[in-house]
Amino acid sequence: MPDESRPPFQVGAHVPNCLLPNGSYLHDLRGQPVILAFAPDEWNPAQAHQSSIFAHLLHAFDGIAVSDDTMAAWYSLDCQGPVAAQFNITDQRTLLLLDEQGILRWQTAIGPGQEPRAGQILAALEALRPIAPVAAREVPITSGGLSRRTFLAATLATAALLLLAGAAEAAATVTPPKHPASMPATPAVATIPITLTINGETHRLEVEPRVALLDALRENLHLTGTKKGCDHGQCGACTVHLDGQSALSCLTLAVMSEGRQITTIEGLAKGATLHPMQAAFVKHDAFQCGYCTPGQIMAATALVQDKQHRSAAEIREAMSGNLCRCAAYPNIIAAIQETQTA
Ligand code: FES
Ligand code: FES
Repeated sequence: MPDESRPPFQVGAHVPNCLLPNGSYLHDLRGQPVILAFAPDEWNPAQAHQSSIFAHLLHAFDGIAVSDDTMAAWYSLDCQGPVAAQFNITDQRTLLLLDEQGILRWQTAIGPGQEPRAGQILAALEALRPIAPVAAREVPITSGGLSRRTFLAATLATAALLLLAGAAEAAATVTPPKHPASMPATPAVATIPITLTINGETHRLEVEPRVALLDALRENLHLTGTKKGCDHGQCGACTVHLDGQSALSCLTLAVMSEGRQITTIEGLAKGATLHPMQAAFVKHDAFQCGYCTPGQIMAATALVQDKQHRSAAEIREAMSGNLCRCAAYPNIIAAIQETQTA
């Protein structure tokens, strides 16, 4: 039972050590973000639902192992169990997010009948943003200040948040299947409404919280000029501008992009008049197959907007995150050099 005389743990506090249901101690998990999702134990159908969606989520991040060295540990716990009592959990649906040092970075409780708000999700993302890198484990790929590892942890947190809210409804409405063994679980993934400002136009759409901006652009809005290369933050093909700065849309959640000015390759030209960088790419024949070209042009336009004069070596270094399989690099550098002297 929670101790009413004790205050709940505050954000910024070191959390107590405790024994988790899998037999490991919480403090042994330091070095990785940990998500603790407390929910009523009687939500068994929902637990299966959670597991299914969690597996679906991890599948979306193909190549990231789910094992002892998982990038973010996620635990679904009984809100009336011993761990909940140690954390003084009083609300039935509560989500805690611990950082690599075991410090409580974010918490939320969802009351009966409440839905999670986009603001809560953004708060989770913001809570993760300043996590100090742990040198040996951090993957130094950033997008809007988030590492890929943090991106994953945030995605799991947001998914868990939605699951906690959705599970109550699922538990209330679920009817047992007639042939459970023959009917695979179909995850009903919750979506949230968001509004994106892209190339000066407002778009309203419904997306799952895990959806990357790249997929929202291409699949939901059919803005296919932004290309998907690696989908892992390594090639630069998906580069767009967020508030005028270069950003990898494959590592940016669509929900994080609300309220920001998004520019894609479709937004550079003014009618039939090409942007000077586009014209320079044409003039210098700075492409062959053209697949990397939208990302190259977006990165290049963000680069030259400070009007600094860079040498070819400096441009090459600044553009090193944008790969070209056709090796059109000399022509790309020439195009960029021309625009910075224009
Ligand atoms: S698709 Fe985003 S960096 Fe490759
Ligand atoms: S022009 Fe083909 S990948 Fe760059």
